[in-house]
Amino acid sequence: MTSFTVAIDGPAAAGKGTLSRAVAERFGFAHLDTGLLYRAVGAKGGDPVRAAQTLSAADLGRGDLRSAGAGEAASKVAAIPEVRAALVRFQQDFARQPGGAVLDGRDIGTVICPDAEVKLYVTASDEVRAHRRWLELRAQGDVITEAQVLDDLRARDARDTARATAPLRPAADAVLIDTTELSIDTAVEKACEAIKRRM
Ligand code: C5P
Repeated sequence: MTSFTVAIDGPAAAGKGTLSRAVAERFGFAHLDTGLLYRAVGAKGGDPVRAAQTLSAADLGRGDLRSAGAGEAASKVAAIPEVRAALVRFQQDFARQPGGAVLDGRDIGTVICPDAEVKLYVTASDEVRAHRRWLELRAQGDVITEAQVLDDLRARDARDTARATAPLRPAADAVLIDTTELSIDTAVEKACEAIKRRM
């Protein structure tokens, strides 16, 4: 079976994760949340370039990678070009596996998989994203106010958009999905339609 890659990019808490998992399940594709790689590098401590070069399955299995602090640390190490370079090969190999793959992140359609069969760019308003992220963090026991989550999110977006290497931006040929006023089901349907058109 040949490979088929779906690249899903967008800012924090836009709904990429939920959408990616649903799409992967619908089409039987493997899924890689690439944010987890940067979160694991940030959480490992020490020299981030070395951490990226030696990243292991155990590093990715740590339980604390979804916290607000891990997200902050991730966006800092993600601005280092050598960290990004060390993670390219793993992501590209994952994307080319037989049977199809969905990768979600910030630079999948622009840098990691510029030839992906389908590119989606998922966004939502800052306030809606902050509210969703706050609900998630609260559910996992993180004590943080919604205003603080909004501030953190904007700082993280600014860093992700402004960095010199692989900044967050939609690929020229990406299908835009704005989830501000969409239910999860409707967003998933839009994504699946875009994929079916390219199969
Ligand atoms: O998606 P998530 O919030 O887990 O990503 C954490 C951080 O990792 C992002 O804010 C971004 O700085 C970085 N990241 C990246 N490129 C990716 C995925 C994540 O720079 N492909």
